[in-house]
Amino acid sequence: MSDTNYPNILSPSNLGVVPLRNRAMVAPMTRVSASSQGVPTDIMLEHYRSFAKGGWGLIFTEGTYTDEGPSQGYRNQPGIATEEHRDGWSKIVDAVHGENTPIFQQLIHAGGLIQHNNYVSSAIAPSAVDQLGKMLPHYFGDGMFAVPREITKDEIKETIKGFADAAVRSVEAGFDGIEIHGANGYLLDQFLTTFSNIRNDEYGGSMENRLRFHCEVLSAVLEAVGGNAPVGIRISQTKVNNFDYQWPGQEHDAKTIFSALKAVGPAYIHISTHKGLEDVWKSGRHLADWAKEIWGGPTIACGGLHDPVHAENILKEGKADFIAIGKGALADPEWPNKVSADLTPTAFDPGMIKPYANLQNTLDWRKNNNH
Ligand SMILES: Cc1cc2nc3c(=O)[nH]c(=O)nc-3n(C[C@H](O)[C@H](O)[C@H](O)COP(=O)(O)O)c2cc1C
Repeated sequence: MSDTNYPNILSPSNLGVVPLRNRAMVAPMTRVSASSQGVPTDIMLEHYRSFAKGGWGLIFTEGTYTDEGPSQGYRNQPGIATEEHRDGWSKIVDAVHGENTPIFQQLIHAGGLIQHNNYVSSAIAPSAVDQLGKMLPHYFGDGMFAVPREITKDEIKETIKGFADAAVRSVEAGFDGIEIHGANGYLLDQFLTTFSNIRNDEYGGSMENRLRFHCEVLSAVLEAVGGNAPVGIRISQTKVNNFDYQWPGQEHDAKTIFSALKAVGPAYIHISTHKGLEDVWKSGRHLADWAKEIWGGPTIACGGLHDPVHAENILKEGKADFIAIGKGALADPEWPNKVSADLTPTAFDPGMIKPYANLQNTLDWRKNNNH
């Protein structure tokens, strides 16, 4: 008999070649706390180390921009575009490894969703169309997104190379794996999405064409890393600029997307939702469940899984292999240790990321609220 109420969450596993002490992961979370040049800071080191001490099986970094072109989305976002960035991250990786915890770097290109008023005019995206929604004030964004410029085919090649070079720098920094941010409305997802991609070349039109950029980025990163670290990809329907978006072809699109990714061969697929793991397309199943069935490989579910009973059930029912937690991890870096001791983790409070999602605000909130 197991002596825990959460045997699935707490069971050891591995992701590719990386051993994990349990199946609970810190979701990628942008914290706008790097230097103005995108170099990781001491406060970031302490932030990531607190998760490692808290007993998580794996930590994902926040979305980290890939190149010195227009990949950066936010003020004080960290990059992995230069050697200085790499050396800054290396200190964080060492601190996290010092607590026996693996850490994967998430690579992001903002595309049309640049939230930094100094850079909005340089935004590139599949098509020069209005980006829905407003910039996010907690990332220092203010007002509507600008209409981006249509990315040229040469720029598509350069951007893919940017991802591959960034992944190599991440491995040099000591990261255990790479996650490509293919979700939430940023550049890759802009290609996949009908309202942001009205191209009529091989990157637009059919679902196969709109998926081409995802597959080319994934393939280039896999080749660049050459088996030195697992490479996975994050996918969502919802977006920071449209929380309700669903794939128009629903289950049929899911089959096309997850089968195409499978053919390229990621180490895992990470499903992100903004509203919690909900029933999609009235199918009675959530998106991670669909992904796992269609692609058949390691699948991470994320969205509203901070209640350990809920998270345990998702794993127990075989609807995902791992669970990632965002806001709940921010609220309680000790979540796995507490779950293991059958204690209730501290609940998230929106005040932790107000007025800005940076780390100083979270620390101030904790101090003012006696945590
Ligand atoms: C402050 C904050 C920053 C986030 N930044 C990222 C990010 O950099 N990359 C990403 O893929 N998702 C990001 N997300 C989304 C989370 O990874 C996660 O998918 C979402 O919060 C739902 O999970 P939860 O209900 O456990 O919070 C962010 C979420 C929050 C709250």
